[in-house]
Amino acid sequence: LFSAVEMAPRDPILGLNEAFNADTRTTKVNLGVGVYYNEQGRIPLLRAVAEAEKARIEAHAPRGYLPIEGIAAYDQAVQKLLFGADSELLAQGRVVTTQAIGGTGALKSGADFLKRLLPNAVVAISDPSWENHRALFEAAGFPVQNYRYYDAVTNGVNRAGLLEDLKNLPARSVVVLHACCHNPTGVDLTMDDWKAVLEVLREREHVPFLDIAYQGFGAGIDQDAEAVRLFAQSGLPFFVSSSFSKSFSLYGERVGALSVVTGSKEEAGRVLSQVKRVIRTNYSNPPTHGATVVASVLNSPELRAMWEEELGEMRHRIHSMRLAMVEQLATNGAKRDFSFVARQRGMFSYSGLTAEQVERLKNEFGIYAVSTGRICVAALNNNNLESVTRAIAQVL
Ligand code: LMR
Repeated sequence: LFSAVEMAPRDPILGLNEAFNADTRTTKVNLGVGVYYNEQGRIPLLRAVAEAEKARIEAHAPRGYLPIEGIAAYDQAVQKLLFGADSELLAQGRVVTTQAIGGTGALKSGADFLKRLLPNAVVAISDPSWENHRALFEAAGFPVQNYRYYDAVTNGVNRAGLLEDLKNLPARSVVVLHACCHNPTGVDLTMDDWKAVLEVLREREHVPFLDIAYQGFGAGIDQDAEAVRLFAQSGLPFFVSSSFSKSFSLYGERVGALSVVTGSKEEAGRVLSQVKRVIRTNYSNPPTHGATVVASVLNSPELRAMWEEELGEMRHRIHSMRLAMVEQLATNGAKRDFSFVARQRGMFSYSGLTAEQVERLKNEFGIYAVSTGRICVAALNNNNLESVTRAIAQVL
């Protein structure tokens, strides 16, 4: 049965963890996967999470099956975070939200549901995009194309190319957009760009699929949801995949959600029934722990304030690492202008390093980054910054 099975390549992101873990050098640094490490180089357990977990353990709650769509209090809290507590869409009952196995699970459920709705559609993702976007939508049976996005010359957005490519897609394509903190580039659209994109999507009847895995890591919780809220006012149907992996530092608990914006409450009821079928045939129903914790935090004014403060601390520390990285690269002799790193948002810097330079960083210095040159700035700290920037300057 298995004699002809070929060895699959390592995952471009999670495969780096495997290689990193096998590396015996004590000086190694993992700038590959998008994970926030604190100044001590550890993945933090947030205080708000610890408090909610303590209460949960003390309650000795039974672990029955959750409803297929997940915990109601969690789904509602997700909706408020994305669309705003005073959202008209929510008041009208037009949004369907289901708990998902992380942001990836939300994308997969959304992709499978879309395949039933638009079996012949093309899916378009940004060039570049998160490595798993293409694989996920291809696995759901869609052909996947790129639209132009990043301009390596200006380290900004190729606005004209983006709009042109969206216009040229077949009508009713599915367009995957990063709502904030674009992964991997860290380069986001301005509000004017979003408005222009929205008009093309409307004109061409494309279906927007907003992926938001870093809410709170750009400018703030509400600021980072501006694109979602703009789309919410548009009257268009759209999908949102969201994740608490990063913002709650709950990576392994797989806490995400799929939200589908529909035209009416009645439509929402029918859509929910179909999304539930997709979930049931993929993994039946979601796990309890992570979503219970997130719901407790978001629904308690005290814990929520604590979480917002901790999220702000993470955001500010990443920003200070960006500034320090730019400075240290110059101090260590890098000739290139890296000031764009300070302007990028979220966890990543699209450094401009080539695949060969990334390979040298790994082989010669034990520094792991994605082969596209994506570096996780959130893994830098004042102890590893000097050695990392010195190594980068050398491979340049
Ligand atoms: C990343 O981009 O590194 C993260 O979103 C983790 C992942 O699943 O790839």
